[in-house]
Amino acid sequence: MCGIFACISKDNKTAVKVINGLKKLEYRGYDSWGISYKNANGINVVKEVGKISAFDPEEANFADSNVAIAHTRWATHGGVEVRNAHPHLNKENTIAVVHNGIIENYIELKNELIKKGYEFKSDTDTEVIVQMIDSYMDFGFEKAIEKTVARFEGRFAIVVIDKNADEIIACRRGSPLILGVGKEETFIASDIPAFLSHTNVVNYIDDDEMVKITSSERHFYSLRTGDEIQKRDIQIEWNIEDAEKGDFTHFMLKEIFDQKETVQRAVDQSDEEIMAVAEKIKKSKGVFFVGCGTAGKVAKAGEYFFAHVAKRHVNFAPASEFPLFHNFLLPETLVFAISQSGETADVLEALEVAQKAGSTVFSLTNVVGSSIARKSDISLFIKAGPEKAVASTKAATSQLALLLLIAYAVAGKLEEGKKLLLEISSNVNDLLNPRFVAHTESVAKKIAHKDNLFIIGKGVNYPMAEESAIKIQEVSQIHAEGFAGGELKHGPIAMIEEGTPCLVLVGDDESKQEIVSNAIELKSRGAMIIGIASEKHDCFDEFIRVPESGVASCITNLIPIQLLSFYLGVERGLDPDMPRNLAKSVTVK
Ligand code: M6R
Repeated sequence: MCGIFACISKDNKTAVKVINGLKKLEYRGYDSWGISYKNANGINVVKEVGKISAFDPEEANFADSNVAIAHTRWATHGGVEVRNAHPHLNKENTIAVVHNGIIENYIELKNELIKKGYEFKSDTDTEVIVQMIDSYMDFGFEKAIEKTVARFEGRFAIVVIDKNADEIIACRRGSPLILGVGKEETFIASDIPAFLSHTNVVNYIDDDEMVKITSSERHFYSLRTGDEIQKRDIQIEWNIEDAEKGDFTHFMLKEIFDQKETVQRAVDQSDEEIMAVAEKIKKSKGVFFVGCGTAGKVAKAGEYFFAHVAKRHVNFAPASEFPLFHNFLLPETLVFAISQSGETADVLEALEVAQKAGSTVFSLTNVVGSSIARKSDISLFIKAGPEKAVASTKAATSQLALLLLIAYAVAGKLEEGKKLLLEISSNVNDLLNPRFVAHTESVAKKIAHKDNLFIIGKGVNYPMAEESAIKIQEVSQIHAEGFAGGELKHGPIAMIEEGTPCLVLVGDDESKQEIVSNAIELKSRGAMIIGIASEKHDCFDEFIRVPESGVASCITNLIPIQLLSFYLGVERGLDPDMPRNLAKSVTVK
């Protein structure tokens, strides 16, 4: 949700470098983009509405500069217009700011500044930041920033330059910012891929910290105490290829194919660590699984894994709803957060609520050093590599696999779980063959013109039916809804008419017969039944065969759903990597 990238270097081609790095963050927002770079003439600004990927910095003839900050926007406050694009500058064009997050009390601050005579050109909360810094500049650049952020309510990551200071200053609370340590250059970004072609050595900036950087120095301070903080250099394991599309047309397709390896990587964890998590779950009084969107559907699947495999009751709550359950939180309660990015604001808030009650917090994320991982008492990582398409694919199957393994560990059957998941990983590898992909594409072509689509599942495939709806909605913009099969006859069946496509996710467990009966009920109302199952049934008009996978059928069933969503998007002329109105990492509430 908005990407920030900044660089201060000994070389004077930072503008081009920053634009190229910003392109790697386009998945975080693609409404507009902008850059400010500094040279002897002051601060220069270029802003455009649309995607940064369409812009060629080599043709832009940027003047030489060794300091640049840039931003790709997912609009929250103020429409998609050039005047609302970042960076925002003060009246004299001497200070420029980029921002990710929301300043919740910006209206109050804006009114205060207007009374002092400040004029605003945009509708954003970000412009308040730069004007407020300007209003405190008598205290000096650094103090002005400190005084400004002390006034904020909400979450923010900001990066600021001053025409008269040979440094970049950045601060964060709740929104991500990572520092990259280059050779004679220093970077600050919302995510690592922005600078991965220059360095893989990072410093994590924590909440309520400020950092001042030059090309060769970095100083971290606590915004609470003003004390200087020492940071450890961390070498991260991602390589550039992991963060690129390679020969694939889209990140989404590449990430679907990455699942040939990622399911196995997710469950390749140390036995000690998994058993430690399992023991803590067993000893806890109440477990909540929380997550948003796809990760939320995985968390909901966790309820079924624990019911069937571990024979333990756990609760699921969408992270945004979780704070309403605070009365049930005890110090012995365990809250288990699932998040690909590790930066989702609703999940962070859920964890804050849990920690306030003294509960223990576990997390399962993909990004080492992410805010959620750092906030957790125990953090596990799915090791899926960067997931850049907005639609979550490989992260979801990896989360499912690791959660299922934990359920087996709680049941005292870790080895059985490992064996099953090894088989599942090989099933996924086998599924992703050209014939299967072409068949799924052909099914997508048959239904791409439809306006409505329904998906049903039972047991662990019920949350997967809901996940399928998310995938199809975001990537193809077809109206899709996922239900528990048994729920249809209580209302939604009224929507079925001749030819309405209905996807049926059949599990390889005791739910099989019932979900097929539900499919037959739909067919008798005229629905076109697309069965995703390990066995063909007469009621299927189209059949997508997946290998028999027992309790892990939810993992194998998701593969054709992801491919279908991708090809539905392509057939409908959409960019599957960048769905309308969405951003990869939702760092606002
Ligand atoms: O990074 P997270 O896993 O916390 O993100 C949660 C959701 O925003 C995310 O899963 C979203 O629903 C995806 N776009 C779905 O494909």
